[in-house]
Amino acid sequence: MIYKKLFNFCAIILIIASTSSWVLATDVQNGKSLFMDKCASCHNNSMVSDMTGPALYGAQDRWKKYPGAIYEWIRNSKALAASGNPRAKVMIDWDDSEMTAFENLEDAQIDDILAYIQVKGEFGCISPPCETVATENTNTAEAEPTSPVLGYVLFVLLLLSVAFLGRYINSLTRLSQQNAGQVVSPEKSIFGVLLNPSVVKLLIFSLVIFGGYTTVNNAIGFGRQQGYEPTQPINFSHKIHAGDNGIDCQYCHDGARKSKHSVIPASNTCINCHANIQNGSKDGTKELIKVYAASGFNPLNNTYLPEDMSDEDRAATYRKWLKSVWKKEWIENEKSINRLIDEQIASVAGTYNKPIEWVRIHNLPDHVYFNHAQHVTVGKVKCETCHGEVAEMDVLKQHAPLSMGWCVNCHRQTEVQFKDGLVEGKNSPYAGDANTANKYYTDYNYYEKYHNEIKEGKRKGVTVEEIGGLECQKCHY
Ligand code: HEC
Ligand code: HEC
Ligand code: HEC
Ligand code: HEC
Ligand code: HEC
Ligand code: HEC
Repeated sequence: MIYKKLFNFCAIILIIASTSSWVLATDVQNGKSLFMDKCASCHNNSMVSDMTGPALYGAQDRWKKYPGAIYEWIRNSKALAASGNPRAKVMIDWDDSEMTAFENLEDAQIDDILAYIQVKGEFGCISPPCETVATENTNTAEAEPTSPVLGYVLFVLLLLSVAFLGRYINSLTRLSQQNAGQVVSPEKSIFGVLLNPSVVKLLIFSLVIFGGYTTVNNAIGFGRQQGYEPTQPINFSHKIHAGDNGIDCQYCHDGARKSKHSVIPASNTCINCHANIQNGSKDGTKELIKVYAASGFNPLNNTYLPEDMSDEDRAATYRKWLKSVWKKEWIENEKSINRLIDEQIASVAGTYNKPIEWVRIHNLPDHVYFNHAQHVTVGKVKCETCHGEVAEMDVLKQHAPLSMGWCVNCHRQTEVQFKDGLVEGKNSPYAGDANTANKYYTDYNYYEKYHNEIKEGKRKGVTVEEIGGLECQKCHY
């Protein structure tokens, strides 16, 4: 009797364990690191736009007709095409570039990568819903949030284990009572236990608490989007510009120093450089043609096209330009050039002379007042403190939660810079002389008082909080 119960108990634990390992069988996180390591140099991590290789979202569906072929493709695309697989034969002509062979990738690893591709392409991040991952702690800004589903599964497993353990202990007690010759009431069935009024009440109570908590949490997080990384109309890379080529942030965002807003540069700012740089080393002309179309620029002779020029004539100009650039580059591939030119011309149809529609990433609610100049010029806070390592981002991403707690915590902890140029490096355009006073504070009422206290060693510094940085009306209209 007791052995049978023990056996049942073990069997149930086994079933639970195997279902939960099935839930975890494809590991999206592992797929992500494999992808970053091996594929991201050619395939866009957004999964929905092309780079050296094509956008991978939906690739699995596109290969469905040939079971197993996608594994062979990834392990060696050339060999698969040579073996006559029809899709591989078409795919291999996608571009002049060639995909690396990954002979050592195992099926399970490829499964992980494919799972990551699917989830990332579908939701834009790896644990949907992406908008509700806000946390108050900026230190964890880069960490991928763990899936809430996993949490629920574990919770249910835990509850089940408690229930079964309880029952098991109960049976043991009854058995020993029986052995001792006591009279024992008949054992209740599991449904009997579950339908017990106090259990039902407890369940309803938990549901109400849980529902309320989720609703309030979602309401607060609504509109907040830490980690938000939308696909932009142009594949513009901060890494190439601010990182590899060391262009100063304020060359493009010149509002940050002087005004409330940082401002996204107009396409004419891009032309300053791209009048000459007409062929990117990564995307070629594919993205730059969009910049020219938007600003009405003629890269053939570095002038602007007449305002009243028809769309057909504009298209003809760009066609001519593409031919002139490409002839030099890929003269052997005359045949496929026309197809690619058609694609690029089609990609800018309807965008002539229209401002580029960048997708806004950071967005505080209307009731909050935030001023860039105050932080950058007066406070001498670096862009990276709030926006993360932008110079390393190919696709720009919101680094900070932009919650009230985030602003307030920094105001509590950060000391006001009474001297110029302490925070920025010497070469920064907005660094001053470390020995002169920050002129924004010298006419501040308490400047003398605080200054003397620092001199007398009564205090080490003055936080933003102490000059009124926690007053509601400073941040709220
Ligand atoms: C050196 C660049 C490069 C790397 C690295 C690379 N690819 Fe590719 N990939 C390509 C190119 C280019 C194509 C288009 C086919 C061609 O032109 O040979 C392609 C095509 C594909 C396709 C077919 C797409 C479709 O829609 O059917 C898949 C799937 C794919 N790659 C997966 C991967 C995976 C997974 C990795 C990482 C393990 C990877 N690739 C790494 C360049 C690359
Ligand atoms: C060559 C011009 C250029 C340079 C240099 C540049 N940016 Fe940008 N920045 C842009 C463009 C264009 C966008 C809009 C597209 C995007 O989001 O990627 C943008 C967007 C941003 C955004 C997001 C705006 C939003 O929608 O919320 C931030 C933050 C930002 N840049 C910060 C920086 C920082 C910090 C630096 C210096 C490390 C920098 N940028 C350097 C052109 C530039
Ligand atoms: C101060 C000079 C400068 C400015 C301003 C500038 N760029 Fe660039 N851009 C560069 C350089 C340098 C490269 C790298 C060229 C290469 O890959 O060889 C580049 C490359 C690019 C590429 C191609 C990437 C590739 O490798 O294929 C795109 C697209 C691009 N820029 C878009 C923009 C846009 C959009 C703007 C305006 C918001 C802009 N750039 C403003 C200097 C600039
Ligand atoms: C103290 C934190 C902080 C610092 C420092 C900071 N930013 Fe911002 N940035 C923000 C916040 C908050 C927003 C959102 C503003 C809004 O929605 O009104 C923002 C928005 C932006 C935007 C989007 C356009 C806009 O103005 O709303 C750009 C571009 C930008 N920042 C660039 C920069 C650059 C470049 C620097 C450095 C010169 C910088 N930021 C320094 C916090 C900061
Ligand atoms: C990285 C630290 C940091 C973060 C994050 C930050 N601030 Fe500040 N803030 C400062 C510093 C430093 C000053 C001092 C500049 C000054 O004296 O005006 C300041 C000053 C201010 C002031 C002026 C206070 C006064 O008494 O004059 C306002 C308003 C303000 N911040 C709003 C915000 C808002 C809104 C946010 C969040 C969206 C925010 N700040 C996030 C560092 C920060
Ligand atoms: C340093 C800037 C700052 C100060 C000081 C500040 N707030 Fe906020 N507050 C914010 C920001 C930023 C948000 C938007 C947060 C978001 O979008 O989730 C916010 C949001 C709110 C909200 C809306 C609820 C929410 O979480 O979205 C209320 C209510 C609020 N603040 C009240 C206050 C009161 C009351 C004070 C004074 C005790 C105060 N705030 C001081 C920056 C500040």
